[in-house]
Amino acid sequence: MDKRRAIVVGNSDGIGLAVTRRLLDDGWTVAGLSRSSSPLTSSGYEHHRTDVTDAGYREVLAGALDTLGGVEACVYAAGIGDFFAVDDLAAQTRALEVNLVGAARTMEVVVPSMARAGAGHVVGLSSLADVAPSAEAPGYAAGKAGLSSYLLGLGGALRSHGVRVSVVRFGFVDTKMAKARVKPMMLSVDQAADVVLDCLRTRAAVVSRPRRMAALARTAGVLLNVRARR
Ligand SMILES: NC(=O)c1ccc[n+]([C@@H]2O[C@H](COP(=O)([O-])OP(=O)(O)OC[C@H]3O[C@@H](n4cnc5c(N)ncnc54)[C@H](OP(=O)(O)O)[C@@H]3O)[C@@H](O)[C@H]2O)c1
Repeated sequence: MDKRRAIVVGNSDGIGLAVTRRLLDDGWTVAGLSRSSSPLTSSGYEHHRTDVTDAGYREVLAGALDTLGGVEACVYAAGIGDFFAVDDLAAQTRALEVNLVGAARTMEVVVPSMARAGAGHVVGLSSLADVAPSAEAPGYAAGKAGLSSYLLGLGGALRSHGVRVSVVRFGFVDTKMAKARVKPMMLSVDQAADVVLDCLRTRAAVVSRPRRMAALARTAGVLLNVRARR
């Protein structure tokens, strides 16, 4: 492919930033979106400051898409997660808005353009936490469960339109997002970026890393689902 263009949403920091750096190194033209400015200054990169929960987000995203003239790939890496506090349930609502609704709004803008082109690849960064309800971070777990389910459904719906959808499910990755006290099998940001770049090549529907952590999360998920329903 001569011209490879991507949009990365949520890339001022963490995995989104590392993925953007790798795409630029590989010769992609990239537009990034986040609330803060970007440390990236490369030619071939344009940053748009926006909040995925704002009413004007879709317009900013559509502008970025138009400027690029379409995209071959879109990575949704925006995410937040706060621990439960009984006097701040709004924080849980915000996690749903950013992690799930923000992704759905992104699809509203990006998918029709890909479908018109008959090609494209959407990658959403989800979590191994998508398998079970969480008393520690209920909004985060629900948002990721919804995101994984939505993207899997969308993947099926878009197959006949030439658009591929992937869900990348991480355990712990060494960014400011990983707030748990114990973080077993944590991946570095570079390892996480490798996983996403590999997914852009293989176009696998679901990628879960680390694999051993995914198996543990599956088992823990069964137990947590049973406990939550008692
Ligand atoms: N780190 C982990 O352990 C882990 C594990 C599993 C899944 N994940 C998922 O991987 C994704 C990336 O996380 P990360 O670890 O790289 O976290 P991070 O370092 O905190 O980066 C999150 C990115 O999302 C952007 N963002 C947050 N709220 C936004 C909003 N309202 N509008 C636009 N952009 C927003 C942030 O930029 P601004 O603040 O500038 O807006 C930042 O660039 C998230 O979806 C996360 O849930 C992470």
